[in-house]
Amino acid sequence: VETMPGPRPDAVQAHRGASALAPENTIAAFRKAAEQGARWVELDVALLGDGTLVVIHDVTIDRTTSGSGSLSDMRRSDLDGLDAGSWFDGRFAGEPLPTLDAVIAELGALGLNANVEIKQHAHHRSLDQLVQTVQTAIAQRAPQTEIMISSFDPEALRAMHTLEPELEMAMLWGRPPEDWEAQLATIPARTIHMHFKALSIGLLEETSKRGIQVRAWTCNNPVQLVSFWDAGLAGVITDDPSLFLP
Ligand code: G3P
Ligand code: MG
Repeated sequence: VETMPGPRPDAVQAHRGASALAPENTIAAFRKAAEQGARWVELDVALLGDGTLVVIHDVTIDRTTSGSGSLSDMRRSDLDGLDAGSWFDGRFAGEPLPTLDAVIAELGALGLNANVEIKQHAHHRSLDQLVQTVQTAIAQRAPQTEIMISSFDPEALRAMHTLEPELEMAMLWGRPPEDWEAQLATIPARTIHMHFKALSIGLLEETSKRGIQVRAWTCNNPVQLVSFWDAGLAGVITDDPSLFLP
């Protein structure tokens, strides 16, 4: 039987959890990823106004919860009673908007590793507060839980690296800049996470030669990546990990 080239299971990350099948960035989405056999989830983190670190993509809760308003105007108690599931499907009614602490605890139980994407939001005035809060949360992880950090913000990667020099870091670029090699030399990351439509065999040859790993987001069709695995693509971030898992 001919099989399509594909990633190893460790190379598949569930984007915001298995967000094609459950509400993004919720425990339900991470549980679904684990059920599908994923070993890694990607999730987005941001601060509320009171410094609580939550798992959410947007800068407001409007799109992904029953509530409305900006993260910067919220505190931890405002999470009580929020429904982060119904917008996706009634079956997920009452699903909480989780803190990173709650997610880290659940990852251990689910046997998942996590790519924690640190969001750059205008209300994140203190980068030190942000990365220290991430550090405190991930310090609670189970011994078997692996964590990596990614961000579109090189400053966040630099600040995080100072606190946690052992963690794998990935620089996020939609399309890597022409001078990606020079830029990466100033960032403590040996990994690029980029949009899959900007991938090329030539880029993968250049990155491989230099010992730089590349993962591609957000791809939900294995055919689109088939030519890139043999060229050294290191991983995929997908809304539906089952598409890429054996
Ligand atoms: O980690 C890749 C991807 O999550 C970056 O884009 O907007 O989905 O967080 P976004
Ligand atoms: Mg993300």
